Amino acid sequence: MKRSKTQVGIVGAGPAGLLLAHLLHLHGIESVQVENRSRNYCERRIRAGVLEHGTAELLAETGVGERMKREGLIHHGIYLRFRRKSHHINFPELTGGKSITVYGQHEVVKDLIAARLAAGGRILFGVEDVTVEGMKGKAPSLRFRHAGEEQVISCDFIAGCDGFHGVCRPSIPANELRVYEEVYPFGWLGILARVAPSSDELIYSRHERGFALLSMRSPQVSRLYLQCSPEEDLARWPDGRIWQELQERFATEEKWKLKEGPITQKGVTAMRGFVVEPMQYGRLFLLGDAAHIVPPTGAKGLNLAVADVRVFARALDAFYTHGKTELLERYSEICLRRVWKAERFSNWMTRTLHLGGGDEYAERIHEAELDYVTGSRAAMAALAENYVGLPFEEV
Ligand code: FAD
Ligand code: DHB
Repeated sequence: MKRSKTQVGIVGAGPAGLLLAHLLHLHGIESVQVENRSRNYCERRIRAGVLEHGTAELLAETGVGERMKREGLIHHGIYLRFRRKSHHINFPELTGGKSITVYGQHEVVKDLIAARLAAGGRILFGVEDVTVEGMKGKAPSLRFRHAGEEQVISCDFIAGCDGFHGVCRPSIPANELRVYEEVYPFGWLGILARVAPSSDELIYSRHERGFALLSMRSPQVSRLYLQCSPEEDLARWPDGRIWQELQERFATEEKWKLKEGPITQKGVTAMRGFVVEPMQYGRLFLLGDAAHIVPPTGAKGLNLAVADVRVFARALDAFYTHGKTELLERYSEICLRRVWKAERFSNWMTRTLHLGGGDEYAERIHEAELDYVTGSRAAMAALAENYVGLPFEEV
């Protein structure tokens, strides 16, 4: 059995865990990170693609935004398409100059891993059987197996950055947590295709056959999604059927055409809203998907994880530099204010744009929402403000 010590033990090397390790390093705080997958797997996992204004700024300000600035695509708006017409929402005009960056989550992960390793950071990939112990005491520990060897790391704090299916949240006694959850009757079938994006900006399309979204990863790669059942069987979706369905759902009166190309990846994602309160238990803190999930419409998941990390890193800095525990005590309360606003926004985007989540009355309300949001500057500004990301709270 190998025993060691660190200041912060981090479970998970997704965006939350990696960014936390990076920010702590900048504050001079030591961490060890354990991840049950391989580095290669983490760097290839295709997920989110939209960075809020503040997320992109934070990455750039902390020295991990160089490639993002070079290769990321700055977007100044999105299109909402319904009744076969597109309506542009102009972000800079509505938000005092803010925009979003389209840059794949796996690219952020690659950049963060490279920065950590270059700084001599310790990330143990491929660990097994991680458990967390002693969270209510002053020295919680991480226990796991790595390269066949049992290890215990004694920590001052543990950061649960291990996603929705991780071990940290379930290791908190159930009666200490309150769970809020909404399971949506929709899923997304997502594809990556080797074809130039058919639009300069994202298109969110509501159509009587269901929702569809056009996004991208680069000038050569398109990312597209279509609403499906949460249990959709991918085997029933040969490439030809996917393109045909996308063509129908993006159909427009305008002079516009959806370009097709070879599909290089496909997958189905179910949708849920999920929040656990509080996001801390003794010296274990939950960050990102370990504490909350949003339905994907509106691209808030990754950005919320970044916002949690920002608060937690500052709270730890206040603790180690000035011996102050106040921010650590208020961590959950501060994060949850943003989390619930993102849940609200994602719920609204999802319900408004998808088909079949309610009765006909609800469908009419959703159409009215779209009429309103594209016809009223005030409503448009509210959408834009949320999409580019609400300002970070001062901490
Ligand atoms: P994760 O990225 O899940 O990272 C958790 C890490 O912990 C992983 O590397 C995992 O391997 C590791 N881990 C798990 N269990 C253990 C364990 N027991 N021991 C050690 N390590 C462990 N958001 C959007 O905004 N737009 C999208 O299109 C979108 N698509 C998504 C598609 C899928 C299939 C999923 C699951 C999520 C998607 N999201 C999307 C959400 C977004 O990707 C997440 O919000 C984001 O990844 C959160 O980052 P995280 O670091 O908190 O969690
Ligand atoms: C992407 C994902 C989203 O959930 C979204 O709302 C916009 C874009 C994407 O993967 O590119």
